Amino acid sequence: MSTRKLALGSAIALVAAGAFAAELPNLGKPITPDDLKAWDITIFPDGTGLPDGNGNSVQGAPIFAAKCAACHGEGATGGVGGALTPGPARASLDGGKSIANFWPYSTTIFDFIRRAMPYNAPHSLTDNEVYALTAYLLNLNRIIGPNDVMNKDSLPKVKLPNAGNFIIRFPERI
Ligand code: HEC
Repeated sequence: MSTRKLALGSAIALVAAGAFAAELPNLGKPITPDDLKAWDITIFPDGTGLPDGNGNSVQGAPIFAAKCAACHGEGATGGVGGALTPGPARASLDGGKSIANFWPYSTTIFDFIRRAMPYNAPHSLTDNEVYALTAYLLNLNRIIGPNDVMNKDSLPKVKLPNAGNFIIRFPERI
């Protein structure tokens, strides 16, 4: 390629790059590990990702009354947000799908409450409050006792009654 052709080629490339750069909106900034931390909150079924902290059902009851009962009813028996316990129909789906009969992992209760509840103020609970609320719901569903303390070691050991009845669609992916 002659020098002239090369120069012309470079000039065209420069113009093209210039035009492209001018079109970029130049929005946003690179995400930092600190930014990411607030969103990196996934808890795996085996409990990986559970934070420090703890709580039991007795501690969870007043938190539930203050922050959850408006939508889930007193004692989580139902409201606009739905019941969180199937009541006496624990071994079937007759009382509706709920924690004791339709959740495979106790650790997911922690994950869900922490990321999504209260519906009107997600991410507002402390980890201790989430442990206490998880314990409260597990106790209402008659899976643990009122004084059983939930933390990153004890919660993964709580097995839900229906855990073995779920069909894993792609077992090779987990
Ligand atoms: C403003 C209303 C509202 C409040 C307050 C609220 N929730 Fe909920 N909750 C909902 C709604 C609506 C859903 C269903 C959300 C969905 O399906 O995406 C839900 C779903 C849930 C579920 C999943 C139920 C299931 O079996 O699928 C849990 C667990 C839960 N809430 C716990 C809580 C806890 C604990 C609190 C208090 C910290 C709380 N919620 C406060 C409205 C509320």
